Amino acid sequence: MCSSLLENYKAAMVLSAVGDALGFKNGEWEFLLCGKEIHAQLAKMGGLGKISVAGWPVSDDTVMHLATAEALAEAGRDPDFMHLYALIARNYKDCMKDMNGRAPGATCMSNARRLKPNEPDGWKIPFNKSGGGCGAAMRSMCIGLRFPHPEQLDSLIEVSIESGRMTHHHPTGYLGSLASALFTSYAVNCKPPQGWGKGLMTVLPRAKDYIQKSACFVEENLQHWNYFETQWKEYLEIRGISDGESPPSFPAKYGVKQRDEFYTSVSYSNWGGSSGHDAPMIAYDAILGSGNNWTELAHRGFFHGGDSDSTATIAACWWGAMHGFQGVSINNYRDIEYRNRLEKIAEDLYHLSLPEKLD
Ligand code: AR6
Ligand code: MG
Repeated sequence: MCSSLLENYKAAMVLSAVGDALGFKNGEWEFLLCGKEIHAQLAKMGGLGKISVAGWPVSDDTVMHLATAEALAEAGRDPDFMHLYALIARNYKDCMKDMNGRAPGATCMSNARRLKPNEPDGWKIPFNKSGGGCGAAMRSMCIGLRFPHPEQLDSLIEVSIESGRMTHHHPTGYLGSLASALFTSYAVNCKPPQGWGKGLMTVLPRAKDYIQKSACFVEENLQHWNYFETQWKEYLEIRGISDGESPPSFPAKYGVKQRDEFYTSVSYSNWGGSSGHDAPMIAYDAILGSGNNWTELAHRGFFHGGDSDSTATIAACWWGAMHGFQGVSINNYRDIEYRNRLEKIAEDLYHLSLPEKLD
């Protein structure tokens, strides 16, 4: 584990919200389809370091991330998963009351409202062919903070899939949730990022086993399984990191315009980052290309023509889990909305992740 791990937990939760607020910019930048225009506006404001996030609200991504995290904390140290799922479902349903001005996703909204947390199995919804959006991936990073140890991998798989398919019952949707959680666990364990993609590929068969075992719309899930895996395999080949060891290779020219084109090319419907496979993929691409440089991470992962708040929420969480607040201008996070809630839940998750005797 990294040195000041508690600080990294806090940075993961807080900076994730910062990425969200910056990528969202009150809806202006989430829905601006031209990365160059966003970068031009950013430069006019004096660049990232000059931005104070006071008055920049977080979007649905952070509200739902907090909902997941607070349920994990409430479930305690040795959670009964049925109880945990009821808590997550309750929080997803309740947090829909806090969506004013936050541009929540259509699939999240309609399905969260239908959850019945007080009924047995009331957190399960039917398979949904259009449930491949990034709404499950944008809110699951904290599951990796809660279950970071290799021996907790089955819990990470199970909780990320079940919380994901409470609104997104489609492999492309809930495997995005798995990727976000898994890479967060890798980040807090200081696993070198070029190995994360290969790690995901080795975990997918275990996720498939779980889907078969769980006996819930198995046939439909298996029928739509391959898209996520195929897209990821192709991406890892493009970056030359299928072996998990080689350094990533990027095109000689990979500026704002080229990145926008690439993000569109990996997308499902020409809006890079809006699905379960490509939101974590674009976030990962930004992590691979930015090292410990917060500004570079933001330029690649927060400010582009795609679904920028979701890729930012994910990328910034992983970055914070690895690097803490190192090199981040205090302007960027001092006044972030829900800062106290984010720090408090980070502390809770940190303590729950420790073996009892160390806590
Ligand atoms: N495979 C891949 N992509 C799909 C599929 C599929 N089977 N079905 C739909 N999509 P939406 P969400 C794409 O609107 O997931 C907030 O603004 C579809 O083309 O249901 O509930 C957040 O900040 C569409 O572009 O949203 C996020 O931006 C995309 O999924 C968003 O809402 C989003 O689906 C996430 O919430
Ligand atoms: Mg959003």
